[in-house]
Amino acid sequence: MKTKLFSTLVCVACALFSLQLAAQPTPTADGLWLADDGEHINCHGGNIIRLSDGVYYWYGEHRVQNIPGTTEDGISLYTSTDLKTWHNEGLVLKASADTLSDIALGCIMERPKVVYNEKTGKYVMLFHLELKGKGYAAARVAFAVADNPKGPFTFLRSLRPNPGKWPADFKKADKKTAKAQNPSDYSKWWTPEWRVAIEKGMFLNRDFEGGQMSRDMTVYIDDDGTAYHIFSSEDNLTLHLAELTDDYLDYTGRYWRIAPCGQNEAPTLFKKDGTYWLITSGCTGWAPNEARMFKASKITGPWEQVACPSRGEGAKTTFGGQGTYVMSDPARPGEFIFMADIWTPKQLSHSRHLWIPIKFENGAPVLEVQK
Ligand code: GAL
Repeated sequence: MKTKLFSTLVCVACALFSLQLAAQPTPTADGLWLADDGEHINCHGGNIIRLSDGVYYWYGEHRVQNIPGTTEDGISLYTSTDLKTWHNEGLVLKASADTLSDIALGCIMERPKVVYNEKTGKYVMLFHLELKGKGYAAARVAFAVADNPKGPFTFLRSLRPNPGKWPADFKKADKKTAKAQNPSDYSKWWTPEWRVAIEKGMFLNRDFEGGQMSRDMTVYIDDDGTAYHIFSSEDNLTLHLAELTDDYLDYTGRYWRIAPCGQNEAPTLFKKDGTYWLITSGCTGWAPNEARMFKASKITGPWEQVACPSRGEGAKTTFGGQGTYVMSDPARPGEFIFMADIWTPKQLSHSRHLWIPIKFENGAPVLEVQK
């Protein structure tokens, strides 16, 4: 009897405990999340980190108000101590008035992720950058750094990762095979032969000299402090997981491909009980699609695709959202929030936020939205 009472109390305590990280703003009738400035939280495609000061820092795309389309003016920051009420801290990185800058106003800055580097004591931001006037052709990653989590961040540079480098697990024969794949041999995309050529590294080889394409992305710091940049590469067909240098400001040159020709975007990565989980989306632009999930016992792979984590009504479209980050809190190990954006392309600044506390069934992550 005593044991039963004890376990009931433990369960109640656990439930309250997990509710803590599940806290989120109360939406308005039309689903907006208002910050303390009375405006919808204009912070999209980003991430949240909780620092030792007990504050949650939420970084994201600041989309220009009332202007349809994709242009934006910088990266915003909101702060909170309870995940429910948020203070607008303004822009921590502004698009530049200098038309020659890589981040000239009118560029596209997407999916920023900020991480803290224990060794250097700096805050490092990586984001997907598209150069002004070039649509989505540049496919670059950009680096910025700050001494303070509230910024201002200094833009360092933008680039395509890992020029002149083959994946770390490519053997001599793999390199030879990749080099033999020639895009001009295929007049049509998406045929079975073309897919095989992509898997063998046709686009990897195409971009070998200039660096690999880098669009939708996240950053993950492993338990040993090593940081990885995970991004949609090879024309959004294949994910790359690239190791960063100790200061998180460059690449070591070691990288691994995940799901070649699998067409994954919006990568989010986390680790629970020794297993790495990767939840992604398909490639349908701003329109939502069904999430995919992969697991691995080593971050460098092999990664195995497993069942979609979503359950119940809305599961086929990830409840209208597309993942951006899996938030963990150092104070609450084992608890995770899947953060997603419900994009409203006619006015991206009003894209809604969707946070789903991750449940685990037989050890596997499950996403379910409570009605
Ligand atoms: C989505 C991507 C977004 C944005 C959009 C542009 O697939 O996840 O971050 O790039 O395409 O159409």
